Amino acid sequence: MDYNFDKPINRRNSACLKWDNLESSHGTQDAIPMWVADMDFASPPAVTEALKQRCEHGVYGYSVRMDTYVQAIMDWLERRHQWTIKKEWLSHSSGVLPSLSLIIHAFTKPGDKVLVQSPVYHNFYRVIKAQGREVAVNPLKLANGRYVMDLDHLEENLDPSVRMIILCSPHNPVGRVWSREELTRLGEICLKRGVMVVSDEIHSDLAHQGSKHIPFASISPEFAEHSITCIAPSKTFNLMDQHTSSVIISNPKWRNAYNQAMYDLSLAAPNTFGIIATEAAYRHGEEWLTQMLQYVEGNVELVMQFMKQRIPAIKPVQPEGTFLIWLDCRELELSDEDLEQFFTHEAKVALSTGIQFGAEGSGFMRMNVACSRSLLEQALLQIEAAMRTRLGSE
Ligand SMILES: Cc1ncc(COP(=O)(O)O)c(C=O)c1O
Repeated sequence: MDYNFDKPINRRNSACLKWDNLESSHGTQDAIPMWVADMDFASPPAVTEALKQRCEHGVYGYSVRMDTYVQAIMDWLERRHQWTIKKEWLSHSSGVLPSLSLIIHAFTKPGDKVLVQSPVYHNFYRVIKAQGREVAVNPLKLANGRYVMDLDHLEENLDPSVRMIILCSPHNPVGRVWSREELTRLGEICLKRGVMVVSDEIHSDLAHQGSKHIPFASISPEFAEHSITCIAPSKTFNLMDQHTSSVIISNPKWRNAYNQAMYDLSLAAPNTFGIIATEAAYRHGEEWLTQMLQYVEGNVELVMQFMKQRIPAIKPVQPEGTFLIWLDCRELELSDEDLEQFFTHEAKVALSTGIQFGAEGSGFMRMNVACSRSLLEQALLQIEAAMRTRLGSE
């Protein structure tokens, strides 16, 4: 079956954060929203069908994670990432951020440091600080237009009060799909220094052609024993609002601690629609995913070419995964405030500001290209026109 990603879907007035909340997120209703990381595409039809069927049942009492649901997740990991896990390693969560908060809470103490590699998903900073922990930063290195982990810097400067690292794999916002070599060296440093690795793999299913996601814990039994992995069907199949994700922990002591913390905070219960949608997506959504990724990669290519030919002062960093593009706007020589003003109010394209991803994001913007090509083209033309107006008025 061919899926049509070209056909725009009107998301206005659907209680949609990206489109209906623009006034409060960007101070205007009048901009093309390309910020928060969800897609303007309908989820795979098999998901909608399964939800409809469950909806018609009419009874929405407490739910349970059935064996078929757990098996669907295990089969997906095996098929897509060649990662064999045991059933008991899988725990539930209502989202990756809630699990990160809980993991930080359960496995570190107030005043401990949690390390991130900046620029990185802005909510990592928030959840670390919200638990009363300190953020330690090992900045990524941008070399010849490609980001890499600065592992020499990490090894030389790792503060002994760092107890945990949150690895973003693949990496939002820079779009890297980390190589086995990078992950292995990172893991070895963490193991040697007693740093727990929490691998946020929410973007793992979105590796582009030519790149392959490697689950951190699949690299060796030692890495599995010293890490916790968070996965979700949300970015993959546009199911963010089903609030259903999984945590994978092979270490029995850590698993018990995680499950106990979930239970103590009364967060362990799943929700019916989330588990129905997840199972349907993992069982029947792979062809949709293949076509969606092809479409998104086409959008990425369009942005790369358009910028190169028509707005060379903006240099997009080629992503290896995700539906996000990290735009290097430093040549424009605008402050972060001006950059936001330019995109939102002059070009009327609502992006995510780079600075929220850490100091290393200054001068950058993040663009979400999971939208119809016609909308993307319109956004690019608006950016070009606004740039002309700016240059003309200088
Ligand atoms: C790296 C990363 N982790 C977590 C999240 C949020 O996950 P959830 O909605 O499951 O809490 C996002 C959303 O953009 C993300 O990019």
